[in-house]
Amino acid sequence: MTASPTGSPYGAMTSQGAATNIVWHHSTVTRAARAHQRGHRSAILWFTGLSGAGKSTLANAVNSALFEQGLACYVLDGDNVRHGLCSDLGFSDADREENIRRIGEVAKLFLDAGVVVLTAFVSPFRSDRDRARALVEAGDFIEIHCAADLGVCEQRDTKGLYAKARAGEIKEFTGISSPYEEPENPELRIDTGAQDLEACVALVLAYLQSKGVIPEPGEA
Ligand code: ADX
Repeated sequence: MTASPTGSPYGAMTSQGAATNIVWHHSTVTRAARAHQRGHRSAILWFTGLSGAGKSTLANAVNSALFEQGLACYVLDGDNVRHGLCSDLGFSDADREENIRRIGEVAKLFLDAGVVVLTAFVSPFRSDRDRARALVEAGDFIEIHCAADLGVCEQRDTKGLYAKARAGEIKEFTGISSPYEEPENPELRIDTGAQDLEACVALVLAYLQSKGVIPEPGEA
């Protein structure tokens, strides 16, 4: 992503989408200044996987670990966001695309605010995830495939939704009657079907440390 002459990360920005005559206004507090003050970088941790794969559980556990270290962090969760920001959207392909578009934009705002933002959405379509990735610089978007397979998720069926989907009571259910496109090259693929939560959290934290997003243990 290259800034335009106006410095806008979106381009010249006098006309964008439905709006015209809009001009990018620069924040006087930069992301770099926030990172310096807080002692850690921000990043988007994009958890993707089937319903029941453990995205929310893992994102929340990682969030707790980051919080305990005093880092600025926040979880955006699919089921929760659909109660508010995305309450007008259902599960058609077009609505999922719009859901993920909004979350990508919100995550970008959190990134700019200096926060490690963890998103837990099925985000079944590769093109939608790639669009969210393209909104930010390389290295800022960390795609984490929660790779519990359909058999495991259906067996768990924590919300009882797979049974309903099999009975035809829920249409367009991911994995049953709507596709899930696995990430081809995620930064992390974690077998959330086989590994316990603690081990999964450790993998994410180790990755963040190795990339210098968060301090190594014992580091200030
Ligand atoms: S996404 O496809 O647009 O990324 P999102 O993560 O926001 O989906 O919401 C998925 C959650 O909504 C699931 O965990 C499940 O609890 C619930 N849900 C309800 N209907 C469906 C459906 N048809 N397909 C997938 N998830 C559904």
